[in-house]
Amino acid sequence: MKKDLLKLLDLSPEDITLILDTADKLKAERKAGKKHDFPAGKSLAMIFAKNSTRTRVSFEVGMTHFDGHALFMSTADSQMKRGESISDTARTLSRYVDGIMIRTYEQEEVEELAKHATIPVINGLTDFAHPCQILADLMTIREHKGKLKGLKACWIGDGNNMANSLIVGCLKTGMDISVACPDGYKPDKKVLDFAATVTDCKFELTNDPKVAAKGADVVFTDVWASMGQEGEAKEREKAFAGYQVNDDIMALTNPGCMVQHCLPAHKGEEISEKVFEEHAQEIFDEAENRLHVQKGIIYLLMK
Ligand code: CP
Ligand code: NVA
Repeated sequence: MKKDLLKLLDLSPEDITLILDTADKLKAERKAGKKHDFPAGKSLAMIFAKNSTRTRVSFEVGMTHFDGHALFMSTADSQMKRGESISDTARTLSRYVDGIMIRTYEQEEVEELAKHATIPVINGLTDFAHPCQILADLMTIREHKGKLKGLKACWIGDGNNMANSLIVGCLKTGMDISVACPDGYKPDKKVLDFAATVTDCKFELTNDPKVAAKGADVVFTDVWASMGQEGEAKEREKAFAGYQVNDDIMALTNPGCMVQHCLPAHKGEEISEKVFEEHAQEIFDEAENRLHVQKGIIYLLMK
């Protein structure tokens, strides 16, 4: 494993398997009431430039399970807001804490933080990627289906941070993935370039949600306007009309097809209330697994 977890493009298939196996082990230990083998007293700084429920709570609780401490830092009330550089922030925090989790806008900010920090940096979401979420999703699919290799995932909606990370996560774990996005809302070019190099599983990009859903074992979607895009919400609602995960879409999938949503969800927009509630068990297993995957990442990077 590298020092940091910045994006799935940086991880090998073996790294991904190691994180999932570690998360499974920590989940089993926690459920059995066993103490984890992790040194007490470590600290994780959590920098947030955007809102969060799951990421914040799961990292904070994860550090508590390791007898450590997590510090919530909003960029709005830290010196970052007043212009202190990323490099000085990285070098300062490296003297106090054992790891940094950051949620922000630009992927470059996270890369810059990691470059100047002597401690591990974990990407808790940028406009480009959401690696911790996709690792939790892969963990959930593996738990429900017993495997990843050979399954088909489908993405319906915006080619956003989630889509970018999902494409890479699937193709690195032997899953086929078919992505349906409207023109103008495609995944990032770096991700499409990576997908073009993959030969042992299938990647498909289409405008047609029905094509993407055909024969899927797991269907993914996410909000049409991500954090920072609230001003485009009306225009996006028009662009994504017809991109809802609903009964018509689910009818085209394989029997036992799962639904995953990173949450928060806008029911009635990207997903119908009925499909959401029918798959709520899987969706909240996915939310729970953020905790176990994050602990796996902390264990591997910060022990
Ligand atoms: N899925 C996810 O990252 O949730 P939060 O925005 O609540 O952290
Ligand atoms: N694409 C969403 C994911 C939220 C967890 C966003 O960036 O707002």
